Amino acid sequence: MKSVPTMFFATAAFFVLLGMIWGIQMSATGDHSLSPAHGHLNLVGFVTMSIMGIYYALTPAAAASKWARPHYFLAVSSVVILVVGIVMALTENGETLAKIGSVLAVLSILTFLVMILKFGVGNKE
Ligand code: HEM
Repeated sequence: MKSVPTMFFATAAFFVLLGMIWGIQMSATGDHSLSPAHGHLNLVGFVTMSIMGIYYALTPAAAASKWARPHYFLAVSSVVILVVGIVMALTENGETLAKIGSVLAVLSILTFLVMILKFGVGNKE
């Protein structure tokens, strides 16, 4: 199984690849109506997950803890559900998914905060 930092970074890179292709598609078509969803995919999916990846790479005790992999799955599901939810909200197909995604995104950041408080930052050995 891949290390926790690798999982965060690889997924972040995949999200920004999708986000950039989406950005090029918006530019090419001139239809920017879904740009908030593109922005969230890139900022929550790429920037936030990369920062978490940096944290886990710097802090092996946190990466080895039983909470690191559940945190990864929480972070990924929050991005997917939030971005799909924003698309649905923008296209007037309901806001429920966006609300669920928002709560999951908050829980992911709360988990990140707990990790930082519990394990600190960096290698203590
Ligand atoms: C190939 C790369 C990219 C292309 C072609 C692209 C293209 C676009 C386009 C066409 C818009 C709509 C602009 C408007 O309507 O005013 C947009 C908005 C935006 N993009 Fe990108 N983008 C790219 C990468 C990124 C990246 C890497 C990030 C962040 C890390 C990002 C964050 C945003 C944000 C925050 C918005 C504004 C969203 C909003 O209006 O609510 N983009 N982008």
